[in-house]
Amino acid sequence: MWESVDYKVVIGIIGGTGMDDPDILEERQEKHVSTPYGEPSDALVLGKIAGVECVLVPRHGRKHTVLPTDINYRANIDALKQEGCTHVVVTTACGSLREQYKPGDLVFPDQFIDRTTKRISTFYDGKEGSPAGICHIPMHDPYCSHTRKILIEVAKELKLSHHSSGTNVVIEGPRFSSKAESKMFQMWGGDIINMTAVPEVVLANEAGLCYAAIAMVTDYDCWRDDHEPVSVESVMAIFKSNVAHVKKLLLTVIPRIASKEWADITKERQAAVTSNIMQH
Ligand code: ADE
Repeated sequence: MWESVDYKVVIGIIGGTGMDDPDILEERQEKHVSTPYGEPSDALVLGKIAGVECVLVPRHGRKHTVLPTDINYRANIDALKQEGCTHVVVTTACGSLREQYKPGDLVFPDQFIDRTTKRISTFYDGKEGSPAGICHIPMHDPYCSHTRKILIEVAKELKLSHHSSGTNVVIEGPRFSSKAESKMFQMWGGDIINMTAVPEVVLANEAGLCYAAIAMVTDYDCWRDDHEPVSVESVMAIFKSNVAHVKKLLLTVIPRIASKEWADITKERQAAVTSNIMQH
């Protein structure tokens, strides 16, 4: 479906709520891209960070008008793939399900628990324009461990308060969780909670891309009796006061990613897709 990757590192950035400022890119250029799956959340912004080619998509659209359920995750990932991206580094706000994951902390999740119900999570759906066959993409290790390693290394160097792993519970939204749900998610082993990690990470895997997330803890969801339950106001307030950390991390991580040799890793990712497609 997609042309094979030529191994030049191009980094897709999917910007979450409040972290989708195109100003982090130099030599910016807007580009409208169509895909067989429809339109991405907004025009892409092509540009450079420290000389490295990057492509930014604001996940909820530039004016934050797209609900988590209605985000065209397939179009966003396909558009990045079309633009030659080898990596996708995303930002997201998240709630915390553990006392030690504090508001303002950054988390580099390594697992997810999918509680979404209304989203298409494959490119291989048998419709016109989609690739042939059915893809049973392995999901034991959804996030790219090599990209995560670089995120962790740079967060340490920058002395950012962070957690090098975490299980992200993904809810359908747009409502927040009930207290009973929040406590259940803790029992399941969830560390953080958001509304967008799935199917984004799944589709990035199907597209053979190295995908990693920078999640910023903005609240304690609603499981704590000694804390105010999550609200949009609390999310936005924590967010604004910590967004500079995310930007600083991105600006350092991107040239670091580009300086690494990815040919073998990218080949492995592509092979994981092709070897798991069942043809009729
Ligand atoms: N995004 C930020 N905080 C959240 C929460 N508590 N639940 C779901 N998504 C979130």
